[in-house]
Amino acid sequence: MKLIHPVKEMQEAAASAKRGGRRIALVPTMGALHEGHAACIRKARDQGAAVAVSIYVNPTQFGPHEDFKQYPRDLDNDVALCVRESVDVIFAPSDAEIYPAWSGVNAGGANSAQASTWVEETALTNRFEGDRRPGHLRGVSTVVSKLFNIVQPDVAAFGQKDYQQLKVVQRMVRDLCYPIEVVSVPTLREADGLALSSRNRYLSAEERPQAAVLWKALSVALDMFNEGERNVHRIETAMHRAVQLAPAARLDYAEVADAETLEPATEAKSGNIVLIAAYFGKTRLIDNLIL
Ligand code: PAJ
Repeated sequence: MKLIHPVKEMQEAAASAKRGGRRIALVPTMGALHEGHAACIRKARDQGAAVAVSIYVNPTQFGPHEDFKQYPRDLDNDVALCVRESVDVIFAPSDAEIYPAWSGVNAGGANSAQASTWVEETALTNRFEGDRRPGHLRGVSTVVSKLFNIVQPDVAAFGQKDYQQLKVVQRMVRDLCYPIEVVSVPTLREADGLALSSRNRYLSAEERPQAAVLWKALSVALDMFNEGERNVHRIETAMHRAVQLAPAARLDYAEVADAETLEPATEAKSGNIVLIAAYFGKTRLIDNLIL
């Protein structure tokens, strides 16, 4: 396995893989790799391609009061997981190369202090994470676009855990004519249903078991739907109640939406997406489920 930092070296490695007739599959990550990332890596490898994992904690997708500074960085552990998963290349670029105009001070969100050229999706980003975290999805689409330009993948794997991000990336690929197939990876969960996330390590011993209410609330929604409930208000109210059972939880949103447009559903339908976000102390976690 190769560990590459310079952009130019990554471009050369990608060009040389292509000359050798190899397809490239990219798994973009921010490191602090866990089994959810490993599931994305395996899905990428199933495409019969050389697998590149990018590791880059992207400053422009963090708000000014978010956890950019504390975000876990553990390259040794990440390298070990990638070796175990037979990754071909880790691409871990520097801030100076990804954001040449940026001073290094995280001004928060995607703004002109960091760069003056952005990639922004404008339809799917108005609600949910786009609404709660201004600039977040713009930071994501911009950095993913840069990674696509550098690594030139044929396939890119994204987790369903970050459902809105997945949809925004799919839309960007379509709208900007990237010749890339986006494959999605089902969410890996702990035994109690908590979706694996690099941010789970922020949870205190008291908060950790309570964080499973996200999955409980989603399961309540699914059970109601399966028993014939179609009233969105009643489903959402039941999810609110489920989250209230955890004293450490503060609900941000729990909504049923169209899985493609992310518009609020008027009546619950098969194939709708249920999206949920809540704080446990200072830690904000998200999850979702398709009905
Ligand atoms: P990160 O949070 O590190 O996640 C990298 C990829 O792993 C994403 O596609 C995410 O959806 C997927 N993933 C995370 N937890 C998962 C789980 N429990 N099961 C399955 N897949 C999971 O998402 C990002 O980084 C960044 O926003 C990025 C796309 C790299 C842009 O900076």
